[in-house]
Amino acid sequence: DDAVPFHGAHQAGIATPSQRNVAVVSFDVLAADRGELTDLMRALTDRARFLTSGGTPPDPGISAPPTDSGILGPSLPSDRLSVTVGVGASLFDDRYGLASRKPAGLTSMQTFPNDHLDPAQCHGDVSLQLCAENPDTVLHALRDIARHTRGAMQIRWQIDGFKSPPRPSGTPRNLMGFKDGTSNLHGDDTKTMDQLVWTGGEAGWAAGGSYQVIRKIRMLVEFWDRVSISEQENMFGRRRDSGAPLDGNDEHDTPNFAVDPVGTAIPLTSHIRRANPRTPDTQDSRILRRPYNYNLGIDSVGNVDCGLVFICYQRDVAKQFEAVQKRLADEPLVDYIQPVGGGYFLVLPGVRDTNDHFARALL
Ligand code: HEM
Repeated sequence: DDAVPFHGAHQAGIATPSQRNVAVVSFDVLAADRGELTDLMRALTDRARFLTSGGTPPDPGISAPPTDSGILGPSLPSDRLSVTVGVGASLFDDRYGLASRKPAGLTSMQTFPNDHLDPAQCHGDVSLQLCAENPDTVLHALRDIARHTRGAMQIRWQIDGFKSPPRPSGTPRNLMGFKDGTSNLHGDDTKTMDQLVWTGGEAGWAAGGSYQVIRKIRMLVEFWDRVSISEQENMFGRRRDSGAPLDGNDEHDTPNFAVDPVGTAIPLTSHIRRANPRTPDTQDSRILRRPYNYNLGIDSVGNVDCGLVFICYQRDVAKQFEAVQKRLADEPLVDYIQPVGGGYFLVLPGVRDTNDHFARALL
């Protein structure tokens, strides 16, 4: 069927195409010692392997509670589910004697200018990125994993996201109305993935993983919806209808900043120009984005509570995400967005086969 393969050198959910729905979930690990942490990683491996392939859950016998929640029916569809497991810097504190094994690149998310971070929605020991075509498949996977890891880890924060279908075509739109993901790294370009996304030999036991940055970014849509279309387009540097750069006609035309040094067509402060100036010295800061929209209804004063689940992958957070974020620091868009949560994680190397498990080379 259409299952996303689980076994491999790298975990699924990074280079593989985005599914329609996501849950990003951060956990605190409660395991008492290194042995229990290893058991947790084995349990995560077993559940991810089973859930992503789909199939019929085992019969529990007459008097036991059912082995499965049943919300997807008696036989589980794979629904292109991917389960992507990461670890945070805090897992390498004193608890499990792992301090000396912490990869140098794994740090705690910093607070940037204009951030409005809520500590209850930041950081964590373990991250799960659960992606599937349908939201009930994502919820089913989360309930299953939480049930099988109860006592070993507990949810710290969670944000669910969705992707719209292409309207009318091309890249899906974010909740500011703009196509989001037009200029991005491509998962099937293995050379670029090796160069910019997968960690290499420098990462030791973590080679084949990837650094994951999660940012829950609220959009102040009441304010945004009062801005003129030309001002909105100047903030991004692209047309709202087609997604074309302001110096081009089609979504996938390449903006030519070199012929526009003062920003006549595409303002110097625009999001795309700051994020990717397309100069030789900034090519190493490119990132692989996997954006989703989120919608939480209304807040306590009646404002729409929606935004972007910004997820990106890279080989080096300081040289890539943080370099881009610093260039974006005072872009005009900051008046209309508020980062409220997130964290940095290291996505573990892939599980090779049925004898392997997550973090085997670490534990
Ligand atoms: C491009 C929206 C936050 C990095 C874009 C584009 C849009 C967009 C509409 C142009 C279409 C495209 O090429 O994908 C947003 C919104 C954000 C946000 C609404 C917050 C709510 C961020 C953050 C970063 C980032 C936090 C990284 C620190 C990029 C990059 C590009 C991009 C690298 C591609 C630039 C290029 O290669 O031309 N974003 N973005 N964005 N954004 Fe964002």
